Amino acid sequence: MYVLGINGSPREGGNCDLLLDRALDGARSKGARIEKIVLNRLKFVACQECANMPDDGSCIVDDDMQKVFEKIKMADAVILASPIFFGSLSAQTKMMIDRFQCLWRAKYILKNKGIEYKKKKGIFVCVEASNRDDFFQNARSIVKNLFATINTDYSSELFCSGVDNKASINTHPDWLSRAYELGVGIVS
Ligand SMILES: Cc1cc2nc3c(=O)[nH]c(=O)nc-3n(C[C@H](O)[C@H](O)[C@H](O)COP(=O)(O)O)c2cc1C
Repeated sequence: MYVLGINGSPREGGNCDLLLDRALDGARSKGARIEKIVLNRLKFVACQECANMPDDGSCIVDDDMQKVFEKIKMADAVILASPIFFGSLSAQTKMMIDRFQCLWRAKYILKNKGIEYKKKKGIFVCVEASNRDDFFQNARSIVKNLFATINTDYSSELFCSGVDNKASINTHPDWLSRAYELGVGIVS
């Protein structure tokens, strides 16, 4: 089983990163092959709304997102982590998600059956400094839309509030343990 972690935070060694690593550790402990993508390290642009977008669900913008499309296609499970920025997902995460517009159109508008990604499981991990449930709801609704587009069950989520400083998630061993369990669970 191939489990792909995607970190949408720009802060490496930060809260999303640590939670994601823990979840991937859990998946690895059950024999999964794991990989982590850090979106902030990639060179990619936001969706360009290309007039000549192909009908097969692929994106013609030639940048690092092409690698992300391939890895997500191959994955049996995806663990996406994002901090809350201004009440929603980080820009890095949203930029990645918008790039699936061609797939969304092929699937839901053109109803093209041949383009479906293989079925997979998904976990969403989200962190915020405040304690605003509406912010988590905003983020969840966008991620659910992505997961549906990439044929991924929204299997579980981990929302951590009141976490702000870099690596301060380390003072919450309960959440780190939960992340590990979610990683274990996604392989079982
Ligand atoms: C640009 C920016 C916007 C933020 N907006 C919010 C916000 O709207 N609500 C909130 O609770 N926290 C907000 N935060 C705080 C982060 O969600 C918090 O620090 C989180 O722990 C960062 O996770 P990370 O270490 O994985 O990057 C913001 C932080 C930044 C840098």
